[in-house]
Amino acid sequence: MNNYLFFVFLFVPILVGAQQRTPEQDSLIAQTVRKSKADHAYMLHQLSIKELRPGRSGNPNGINPANYEESEANPFPNLPDLLTLKSGEKVSTPKQWITLRRPEIEYLFNEEIYGITPKNLPAVNWVLLKSNPEKLGNYDVNVLTYSGQVANDTYPSISVTIDLTITLPALQAQPVPIVMEFAFVFPPGFNPPPSNEISWKEQVIAKGWGAAVIIPTSYQADNGAGLTEGIIGLINQGKRRSPSDWGTLKAWGWGASKALDLMETIPQINAEKVAIMGHSRFGKAAAVTMAYDSRFAIAYIASSGEGGLKLHRRDFGEIVENIAGPGLYHWMSGSFLNYAGPKGWDDLPIDAHSLISLIAPRPFFIGVGANGDNWTDPKGMFMAAAAAEPVYQLLGKIGIGTSAFPAVEELIDLGEIGFRLHPKGHVTGPNWPYFIEFMSKKLDLE
Ligand code: GCU
Repeated sequence: MNNYLFFVFLFVPILVGAQQRTPEQDSLIAQTVRKSKADHAYMLHQLSIKELRPGRSGNPNGINPANYEESEANPFPNLPDLLTLKSGEKVSTPKQWITLRRPEIEYLFNEEIYGITPKNLPAVNWVLLKSNPEKLGNYDVNVLTYSGQVANDTYPSISVTIDLTITLPALQAQPVPIVMEFAFVFPPGFNPPPSNEISWKEQVIAKGWGAAVIIPTSYQADNGAGLTEGIIGLINQGKRRSPSDWGTLKAWGWGASKALDLMETIPQINAEKVAIMGHSRFGKAAAVTMAYDSRFAIAYIASSGEGGLKLHRRDFGEIVENIAGPGLYHWMSGSFLNYAGPKGWDDLPIDAHSLISLIAPRPFFIGVGANGDNWTDPKGMFMAAAAAEPVYQLLGKIGIGTSAFPAVEELIDLGEIGFRLHPKGHVTGPNWPYFIEFMSKKLDLE
């Protein structure tokens, strides 16, 4: 049930009407909201914060509506310098970057934004549940269904499993690259609107690659109520988080890293060419995964917005205060809430360009929509990428290679950061072919 709770909560009311939820679903949602609010309040108490500033409304006629005026979007235009050490010394060599500045930035993300990943995380035992020959469109494939059983001998009352499927071409001459998606789980009986696009999996298989799907909510629920369960709850032995503990985005990334550990043991897979992909909240998770696990070769980070690749200092669409509220704060560390309370956005010693600098010099693709995706602040993500250019250059690469925001459908692939505004809304479909092409080129798969 928890797997699709957030989906039921967020989307089903919009798509099929609240009246179609069952009373059981309604009461589960109410309970989750109540528990999340209590956990959020406890976190504020730990931080000695009395009140947070409110988030913006997505409704233009609502109270405190989001800003969509570019002329007012940059109250804090100066970003923290990526190439200056805390000591004030300038970073001018790749070695200084790798040994001194990069660790400083990673430390700040742990402390201020995403939380500290616990040491001694439990082992995962990957059990192959099924290996089935199937057809995907016209292609013969093998679908491997895994369950990652997380060792819980330290706290047996919480059990955690990671759901993962890997679809491989039935016939392959050599180990294949993989695209792994953080996937949403739809509630039973719900069918996403029909589309005439070829599924991303089929596009990936058509290239002769493999497609993996990991279910983040199988090992960490997408709400504050679930923080005392899942992998975060297991480590905390069922207790609530302290302000420096990791949030859900990092926990989701941990699962992806465990899946990559498994892939390294599968002879049909080339684990040096694995992409991580996610959309929206899972776009944020894909960005975090890519930043923290340098084994991922490439990423498709779609509509990640605030908490992902959007500059926190931008006032456009969703803002820091939205993520700090009781519905979404679980994604981040408790300490992040300070920036919607006593501190301001410009007190952050890092910003989204710093997250991109942790990805450098590896390639990745930013996808977003031009019509109905402004909540994610497409330009704020582009600006973050442009501001990370000095780090890509220090490491001998071109990053995004331009500071001119592109027109709709104008592909940017000048360097290691691809960018494309597709003509639709909060969806990934239109950019999939462009990402696949980009991956082909960047990982020499042509
Ligand atoms: C909400 C939230 C966003 C998030 C999105 C999603 O709109 O405000 O930050 O990206 O949900 O995951 O679809």
